[in-house]
Amino acid sequence: MEIQTHISTFSIIFFSLLFSPLTSLACHPIDHHALLHFKHQITFDPSNLLNSWTPQTDCCKSWNGIDCDSTGRVVNVSRSGLVSGEDFILETSMSGTLSPSLSNLSSLQLLDLSNLKDLTGQIPPEFGRLSRLTHLFLDSNKLSGSVPVTFQFLFRLEKLYLSDNNFSGRIPPAVFRSFRSLLEIGLSGNQFSGKIPSSIGDMVSITKLDFHENNFSGVIPVTIGKLKNLKFLDLSENQITGTIPESLGLLSELQILYLNQNQLSGSIPSSIDGLISIQFCRLSENELTGIIPPSIGNLPKIQRLIFENNKLTGKLPATMGHLKTLTDIYFSGNRFTGNIPSSFGNLHNLQALDLSRNNLSGMIPSQLAKLQNLQTLDLSFNPLKLIRLPRWFSKLKLFRLMMANTGIQGPFPIILSSSSTISSLDLSSNSLTDELPHWIGNMTNLSFLNLSNNRFSNPIPPEFENLSLLTDLDLHSNNFSGDINTIFKKNVQDPLGHFNSIDLSYNSFSGPIKIGDEAAMDSIVSLVLSHNPVGGIIPESLSYGNELARILIARNNLMGKIPKQLLNLKNLKEFDASGNRLIGEIPGHNASIPASAFLGNPGLCGAPLLPCKHPF
Ligand SMILES: *[C@@H]1O[C@H](CO)[C@@H](O)[C@H](O)[C@H]1NC(C)=O
Ligand SMILES: *[C@@H]1O[C@H](CO)[C@@H](O)[C@H](O)[C@H]1NC(C)=O
Ligand SMILES: *[C@@H]1O[C@H](CO)[C@@H](O)[C@H](O)[C@H]1NC(C)=O
Ligand SMILES: *[C@@H]1O[C@H](CO)[C@@H](O)[C@H](O)[C@H]1NC(C)=O
Ligand SMILES: *[C@@H]1O[C@H](CO)[C@@H](O)[C@H](O)[C@H]1NC(C)=O
Ligand SMILES: *[C@@H]1O[C@H](CO)[C@@H](O)[C@H](O)[C@H]1NC(C)=O
Ligand SMILES: *[C@@H]1O[C@H](CO)[C@@H](O)[C@H](O)[C@H]1NC(C)=O
Ligand SMILES: *[C@@H]1O[C@H](CO)[C@@H](O)[C@H](O)[C@H]1NC(C)=O
Ligand SMILES: *[C@@H]1O[C@H](CO)[C@@H](O)[C@H](O)[C@H]1NC(C)=O
Ligand SMILES: *[C@@H]1O[C@H](CO)[C@@H](O)[C@H](O)[C@H]1NC(C)=O
Ligand SMILES: *[C@@H]1O[C@H](CO)[C@@H](O)[C@H](O)[C@H]1NC(C)=O
Repeated sequence: MEIQTHISTFSIIFFSLLFSPLTSLACHPIDHHALLHFKHQITFDPSNLLNSWTPQTDCCKSWNGIDCDSTGRVVNVSRSGLVSGEDFILETSMSGTLSPSLSNLSSLQLLDLSNLKDLTGQIPPEFGRLSRLTHLFLDSNKLSGSVPVTFQFLFRLEKLYLSDNNFSGRIPPAVFRSFRSLLEIGLSGNQFSGKIPSSIGDMVSITKLDFHENNFSGVIPVTIGKLKNLKFLDLSENQITGTIPESLGLLSELQILYLNQNQLSGSIPSSIDGLISIQFCRLSENELTGIIPPSIGNLPKIQRLIFENNKLTGKLPATMGHLKTLTDIYFSGNRFTGNIPSSFGNLHNLQALDLSRNNLSGMIPSQLAKLQNLQTLDLSFNPLKLIRLPRWFSKLKLFRLMMANTGIQGPFPIILSSSSTISSLDLSSNSLTDELPHWIGNMTNLSFLNLSNNRFSNPIPPEFENLSLLTDLDLHSNNFSGDINTIFKKNVQDPLGHFNSIDLSYNSFSGPIKIGDEAAMDSIVSLVLSHNPVGGIIPESLSYGNELARILIARNNLMGKIPKQLLNLKNLKEFDASGNRLIGEIPGHNASIPASAFLGNPGLCGAPLLPCKHPF
């Protein structure tokens, strides 16, 4: 056996010497053999990434994706499924498993088998023998199992990417302890579990640490404060509990911090002002309590603060007015109280201010009129008791104005007649009265309009037709009257302005519904017309709406039969025609629609109601 190996080794060397220039040595037979063994474990290679890897040729000279050193040892194996050059992108896949033989590439520095999508199986523990490895990219495959404990021998590793696979289990603490040279680690999009080991603090060179979308639990180790070079830290979408350690404030190089979607509790540490390089900070979807520490006003580079859906309390710190670099504040869904600080008027770069769903009260400071870069203002669901939109709102150049449930009363605010940039407007759940003004037709940039839960009445004005970008309209629970078709007939600006959703329920609109070939209606997904005295029949043309997923037309005084194809719309998920005067057999359908959707129509029969007595 041994003799045989020797002979073949000898002959390879012999032939290599014969056919290659003597300057750089030919592929070492161990490496040659190891790579062929790897190829052997590949079961499907649709783009022929390994076609050039043939036994008769020199792996250093003619194999694609292989780099050797001058002694004929392989240093790089680079066969990613995603390759882009100046004028091309190759996106491909490869099936098979990782051969342990790769561990015989004793000079290997780089192994890139990323984005091959279909590599399966585990990382062979033998990979721990690749003691010269600096770059290991196995991301975007279907690899499973855990990180082999032998990775503790990969002392020279600088970049390790295992993201977007199906890895699971705990990370052995000894592994992080050895990663003193590691600069970047990506484990995101797997099912890693257990605690993040304290040995994380031993990765002293690390600049980028991405563990998001896993199942890590336990607390954030205090030792994280030792990672002085860290620029990017993402632990979001895990099951991490406990508090944010005070030591996090030691990360003076940190630019990006994502801890969102965990179960973090306790308060934001006042040491946060140590994050002097921080630009993006996302702590949303946790259970954080307490106040925002006033020291937050000392972050010289902060751009985005995203603290949504926690249990933060107290007043918004006035010190935030120092954050001149701030572009986005998303604080929705907390328990903040008191006024909006007037110092927010100094945030000249602010583009989005979302303070919705809090307990803010008092006047909106007029200093906010200075925010000339502000595009989104959302103060919805706060007990602001506004009565009217402040006059100075007309100085803002907003795209989104969300003022639901802020106590606005009286007619549709006239100051909006000069706000032609607005694309999304939500004035729902207020006490607005009278009609929709004629000049609504001047708000031609509107694409989303929510006026639900108010006390509007009267018909929709004809100028509504000029809202040619409008795609989502919610007017439910008002007392609008007049012809319902005014809405369906509005103009479009192809390809924009075709309705996505309409909710006109709980109004006094009249019909009959005449949906025919209106461009605005040809791709509607959700149509809710329930509780209106529209009358007439259900137009057959409704069943031509290919995208329709939701049709709610309960209590509309509709007559006649249900059109044959309506219940077989391919996307239909929700249907309710109860409480009308429909008759005849319910058309056969495969969508699962409960009997309740047909009740209250004495003339209807057939599944899911009782069978018909007379054939129709
Ligand atoms: C190995 O790959 C790295 C990174 O792509 C490259 O910088 C290096 O030059 C390659 N080594 C050889 C010997 O080609
Ligand atoms: C490494 O190479 C040796 C010699 O060619 C061979 O005997 C051994 O099986 C290889 N190891 C692996 C894991 O393939
Ligand atoms: C991922 O691994 C789990 C076991 O850890 C297994 O049950 C599951 O089927 C795997 N999923 C895929 C897509 O391979
Ligand atoms: C993730 O963790 C939770 C509890 O922390 C556990 O219930 C769940 O089964 C885990 N899921 C996976 C895929 O490991
Ligand atoms: C809102 O704040 C007021 C005081 O301004 C307080 O009385 C009330 O309990 C708070 N409500 C909630 C839900 O926190
Ligand atoms: C609406 O636009 C028309 C035509 O541009 C203009 O004459 C009218 O004054 C505008 N209405 C309001 C209230 O701004
Ligand atoms: C609509 O918005 C654009 C910017 O997106 C703006 O240039 C345009 O003037 C707006 N339209 C009107 C009628 O104001
Ligand atoms: C309109 O606002 C109400 C709350 O005031 C909300 O329940 C509804 O979902 C909103 N409509 C749309 C289409 O977002
Ligand atoms: C819609 O706008 C156009 C152009 O500005 C105008 O001519 C037309 O009269 C408007 N429609 C209504 C019903 O006001
Ligand atoms: C709704 O409007 C109709 C007229 O269109 C009126 O008869 C009715 O009283 C109004 N209902 C309420 C609750 O204001
Ligand atoms: C319901 O599905 C079955 C099987 O997929 C099909 O044969 C039948 O034509 C469908 N019925 C209707 C009314 O589409």
